[in-house]
Amino acid sequence: MNVLLLGASGRIGQRTATELLDRGHTVTGVSRSGTVEGTDADGFVAVAGDATVASDVAKLAAGHDAVVSTLGPSDDESPEVLLDMIRAVVEGLRRADVERVIWTGGAGGLTVGPETMLVETDDFPEEWDAIARAAIEAYDILSEADDLAWSYLAPAALIEPGERTGKYRTADRELVTDDEGDSYISMEDFAVALVDELENENAVHTYLGTGY
Ligand SMILES: NC(=O)c1ccc[n+]([C@@H]2O[C@H](COP(=O)([O-])OP(=O)(O)OC[C@H]3O[C@@H](n4cnc5c(N)ncnc54)[C@H](OP(=O)(O)O)[C@@H]3O)[C@@H](O)[C@H]2O)c1
Repeated sequence: MNVLLLGASGRIGQRTATELLDRGHTVTGVSRSGTVEGTDADGFVAVAGDATVASDVAKLAAGHDAVVSTLGPSDDESPEVLLDMIRAVVEGLRRADVERVIWTGGAGGLTVGPETMLVETDDFPEEWDAIARAAIEAYDILSEADDLAWSYLAPAALIEPGERTGKYRTADRELVTDDEGDSYISMEDFAVALVDELENENAVHTYLGTGY
């Protein structure tokens, strides 16, 4: 597929670019600077664009089969920027007539028990609260875009650079935990999950948790 990858220079984005390219997809990788470190394979083009601007997203997305987002606000930006991004992406895809979008979301809105989201639990780190709540609001906006074939994939509670095992589990709107109750996924395996969803379309109009 010919894929537009928004956030290609980021930590999850670089690994997603690698996973897409290794599986034979062609990738246009977007960042604000237009440079993406460590990805110089055939089939990859790095371009500059602002994902908070719908007209930029529309221009970038035109002619692609699908859009994968690994966007996130920089550390020095407000988490609310995520809402500018999701609005611009929804509007940009409509203008470009591209239906398929897979969005990297947050684990905070996943349920951990009856009617309890992870972000509402006592142990949820204070410093992640604002971005987690912005990510839930982003989900609310995306989930209203019924005309798009969206999927919202959340990492586990903890996601770090690690190993690509190719194995992971998913759950519909639930936090995925292992036998010890830990919720973890490597960035490499989360990239596998994003590309699996792109290829298999198992979670259209779904908020999916991932983990081991
Ligand atoms: N457990 C969890 O729920 C969890 C944990 C980690 C991450 N996440 C989510 O996963 C996403 C990605 O995380 P990450 O750690 O890979 O983030 P990251 O390393 O900060 O990457 C963010 C990417 O977004 C791009 N970007 C930011 N603003 C942009 C703009 N206005 N226009 C175009 N591109 C822009 C950045 O590119 P430039 O800065 O080069 O322009 C970069 O490529 C985030 O939404 C984050 O909230 C969730």
